[in-house]
Amino acid sequence: MKARATIHRDFALAQIDDRLYSAFIEHMGRAIYSGIYEPGHPTANPQGFRQDVLELVRNLNIPVIRYPGGNFVSAYKWEDGIGPKEDRPVRLDLAWRSKETNQVGINEFAQWAKDADIEMMLAVNLGTRGIEEARNFVEYCNHTSGTYWSDLRRSHGVDEPYGVKMWCLGNEMDGPWQIGHMEAKEYGRLADETSKAVKAFGGGIETVVCGSSNDGMPTYPDWERQVLEECYENVDYISLHKYFGNSSHDSLNYFAKIDETGRYIQAIGGVIDFVKAKKRAKNDVFICFDEWNVWYHKREQDAKNWRSWDWPEAPELLEEDYNLEDALLVGGLLNEFIRRSDRVKIACIAQLVNVIAPIRAEKGGAAWATSIYYPYQFASLYGRGTALNVAVNGPRYDADAAHDVNYLDVAAVLSPDGTSITIFAINRSLDETMELDIALQGFEGLKLVEHKVMGGTSAEARVANTSAAPDRIKPRKGEKLAVGDDGIKGELPAFSYNMIRLS
Ligand code: AHR
Repeated sequence: MKARATIHRDFALAQIDDRLYSAFIEHMGRAIYSGIYEPGHPTANPQGFRQDVLELVRNLNIPVIRYPGGNFVSAYKWEDGIGPKEDRPVRLDLAWRSKETNQVGINEFAQWAKDADIEMMLAVNLGTRGIEEARNFVEYCNHTSGTYWSDLRRSHGVDEPYGVKMWCLGNEMDGPWQIGHMEAKEYGRLADETSKAVKAFGGGIETVVCGSSNDGMPTYPDWERQVLEECYENVDYISLHKYFGNSSHDSLNYFAKIDETGRYIQAIGGVIDFVKAKKRAKNDVFICFDEWNVWYHKREQDAKNWRSWDWPEAPELLEEDYNLEDALLVGGLLNEFIRRSDRVKIACIAQLVNVIAPIRAEKGGAAWATSIYYPYQFASLYGRGTALNVAVNGPRYDADAAHDVNYLDVAAVLSPDGTSITIFAINRSLDETMELDIALQGFEGLKLVEHKVMGGTSAEARVANTSAAPDRIKPRKGEKLAVGDDGIKGELPAFSYNMIRLS
């Protein structure tokens, strides 16, 4: 099949916020315990953090990490995780029927985030708690000294405040599964008052109010309207979540869910504009897509397990083995965020280690990158700057999730200094090579710096990376594209992800 695309230097869509490539980690399964933290592991530092995992994390250049939950946060007492470790209580985590030892709390996590060079975005519990705990948590984290909570932090050995800028007002409060689930208006009121209290600390704090848990929720998109009508002027972002699966083994429909996600973003963009106009508001609210990823391979089995198990400590949960198709989905979704970067300012891959994650880590053993690690890494490294419009003229298909879907999924980003352009291109066809012709206008003299490909070989099709075979799915050098004065010409292998960098 053949596809043509045109990119012009001046046809900018939006300035991409670096936080589009953020991540999320929750006290859940083996994400924290035996994921990032495992005292006694051969690579653990004196604080118990695994350096093999940290290195994989660092190589992703993640700007922001959302913590500590997720469903977990809605019954969490952050105070359980401060002070001498031996005095910390063990609690039952009601979200995942597990035991929480509280050996990692805010101060340990902040140290890890600092070592990883990532800024924290913290969530407060609006399920079982409210404004009081939120203000105490902010004071503990952000106030310098001379008050109960700030001096308590100092007594725990942390003199400098963390200055956390981004605060999430609860998690998935529209979901009946959420501890403390609320009706939209009720939650909107609480979010409004909590946001005001949190922002009263100053320092340019930004808050994220909960939107829908996914676009299949019966309350979507009226939830967003009602919530924003209560709190629009006092919040900065509304969160969206969505997880992807392909249980029916229909790859083209799986990829069409990316277009469906585009509609989700567009619809919430419309709701934001509606509420802004209705309130005659001056401020803007953007989208924080703070949970997204592939989650289906072991979903049913996991659900059976955790609903019946006897409160284990750091159990195996949501440890998905990702294949090539999942890497294409993740690359495509990142493309969609780039194309929608006028609305979406923050997005967090959910999650980071072991639990639906780009990084896996065996207890006591090796850490490795899953297939989805690479498209996320390329987007994070080279997807910063200006999102450019790409006009695509190529074959299309219809699927259940969306109609008129392009076989070529493409996004283009002009680097901040304007000297290079990166194109992320996916050939969604399962079996046909794509003859590609990208016209580049306003980019005379650019040369091909790098072309990385994932896919196009049968060896990669149905496998996943494991601790024993961590390199089964890995980008390799592409050899079938040429760059001339008028653009890029050549072939994309069937079922492939491509990162093409010109400078
Ligand atoms: O990321 C796993 C879970 O998915 C989170 O705890 C929750 O917010 C969502 O439903």
